[in-house]
Amino acid sequence: MSQDKKVALVTGGNRGIGYELVKQLALNGFQVILTSRNPEMGYKAAQKLKESDLSVSFLLMDVDNQESIRQAASTVKERYGRLDVLINNAGVYLDENEKLLTMDPFILEKTMATNFFGVYHVIYSFIPLMQKQGYGRIINVSSGYGEMREMTDQGVGAYKLSKLALNGLTQLIAAELNGNIKINAVCPGWVSTDMGGSSAPRTPDQAAKSILWLATIGRDGPNGGFFRDGKLISW
Ligand SMILES: NC(=O)c1ccc[n+]([C@@H]2O[C@H](COP(=O)([O-])OP(=O)(O)OC[C@H]3O[C@@H](n4cnc5c(N)ncnc54)[C@H](OP(=O)(O)O)[C@@H]3O)[C@@H](O)[C@H]2O)c1
Repeated sequence: MSQDKKVALVTGGNRGIGYELVKQLALNGFQVILTSRNPEMGYKAAQKLKESDLSVSFLLMDVDNQESIRQAASTVKERYGRLDVLINNAGVYLDENEKLLTMDPFILEKTMATNFFGVYHVIYSFIPLMQKQGYGRIINVSSGYGEMREMTDQGVGAYKLSKLALNGLTQLIAAELNGNIKINAVCPGWVSTDMGGSSAPRTPDQAAKSILWLATIGRDGPNGGFFRDGKLISW
């Protein structure tokens, strides 16, 4: 690997939007670390991209498991010594037909564990690599369901709360960052993946394109914003 190549890491890169993000980052010249909690699926996904001559490697990481995150961060430090772009894409959507007051409370706990605490712990473990080089771009894949105005409609409460908290986390961390490190959240739209279902109008390819501009913003680029299709939804 060339020492000059920028290194990007994507969580939940084995399928859906994450897989497409890995592919497009590699097509744009990044050395990409495809992470997945499932070793077989992750390895196979990375192999498929490598067969197209893309610079992709696989690394095991379950964002629900802090030890797994710590190990992944230590491997990235050892193998690459840098991290330029971190995309927190892994997510779950477990309460489509549920209400907060009648569902099993574990659904809320599990959703927050992946969509909120998972992102927090990944940033916590990987940010020292960015701080070391004084450069980094972090993208949190959020959802329009995380907008405050969504909280007035019942349903999908666990998922909505997890993305609302994720948007807050994005702003709070942005306020703590120094130097040329930036963090933003983005809604990919309604996308035809296992999560979005087959009637969704947007392809994973289109979703990834609508996200990746945030990976290469310059020093004057936004920090702490929440975007959809390049437009600011809120700070
Ligand atoms: N699709 C949409 O319409 C839509 C809309 C708005 C926002 N989003 C957001 O976009 C992101 C990607 O969604 P998607 O549609 O691509 O979903 P998807 O097809 O269901 O894929 C989800 C990915 O997250 C991974 N994942 C879940 N829990 C994990 C964990 N604990 N550790 C590591 N990986 C984990 C999954 O791994 P496994 O294969 O092991 O399960 C899978 O790779 C999510 O954050 C989602 O909330 C999607």
